[in-house]
Amino acid sequence: MTEPAQNTVEPGTVVVVTGGARGIGAALTAHLTAQGAAVVVADVGDAGPLVDRLTAEGRQVSAVQTDVADEQSWARLVSAVLERHGRVDALVNNAAIYMDLGAKSPFTEISVADWDRVMAVNTRGVWLGMRAVHPAMQEQGHGRIVNIASSTVHMGVPYFAHYTASKGAVIALTRTVAREVGRDGITVNAIAPGLVETEATFSLNDRDYVATAARGRAVPRPMVPEDLGPAISFLCSRGSGFITGQTVVVDGGVTFV
Ligand SMILES: NC(=O)c1ccc[n+]([C@@H]2O[C@H](COP(=O)([O-])OP(=O)(O)OC[C@H]3O[C@@H](n4cnc5c(N)ncnc54)[C@H](O)[C@@H]3O)[C@@H](O)[C@H]2O)c1
Repeated sequence: MTEPAQNTVEPGTVVVVTGGARGIGAALTAHLTAQGAAVVVADVGDAGPLVDRLTAEGRQVSAVQTDVADEQSWARLVSAVLERHGRVDALVNNAAIYMDLGAKSPFTEISVADWDRVMAVNTRGVWLGMRAVHPAMQEQGHGRIVNIASSTVHMGVPYFAHYTASKGAVIALTRTVAREVGRDGITVNAIAPGLVETEATFSLNDRDYVATAARGRAVPRPMVPEDLGPAISFLCSRGSGFITGQTVVVDGGVTFV
């Protein structure tokens, strides 16, 4: 059946945003709730301040403390969302070890423990999330999943091999799962952001590196979290129903795939 061409989320759309307590996830939560979505923030950290701020502005937002690397944590989250809202229309898999990488380091110096920790959150977390929401989306006959990858995969950015590998796997998972769930009315896409000016980016890179990146774009300006909002709401909307398995690079024109 053809879906209506609605290119932003409809008011009342129930969206789970992982890692929404700060940075890009917080900006996506603000963007989606401004369009009338009911967002559930799933973060291992404290999303309370964001929820309080947006609630005071009349937005529909709540939080369930969640560790995306943990299967039981996902089960508790999905139960809470279904109890609260009765359905889950979209999942934005944004949580990752990024700021918590601490520092960039050569591939020869990454420990096995750090490699496993990054893979557990950034890759296993995305797989577990898709697996956790699938039964509800299948029953609804509708669902949108958006996985946050990274343009570092396309650029081959050095000195965080575990991070880039984890994000490459997110793109691979997006394609595979898209093929498995398309018949259920569920789309799965990825967004690969360029270097976004978040607290995390400034903790991992010096200011010159970030400024040079901004000047090198086809659209030569700093990239801010809000630059990702329109792509997210489109991929969470009904109107994007014939687009699946894709990775949309949002980087102001650095890498062309
Ligand atoms: N900032 C950039 O330049 C950039 C570029 C490309 C992609 N990304 C991706 O965008 C997303 C957000 O980036 P950011 O800059 O806001 O990073 P960030 O490190 O500031 O935010 C990550 C969020 O994920 C949460 N999180 C971490 N581990 C978790 C877990 N186990 N369970 C649940 N939540 C967990 C953190 O608490 C935090 O709120 C990440 O997927 C990152 O890889 C960022």
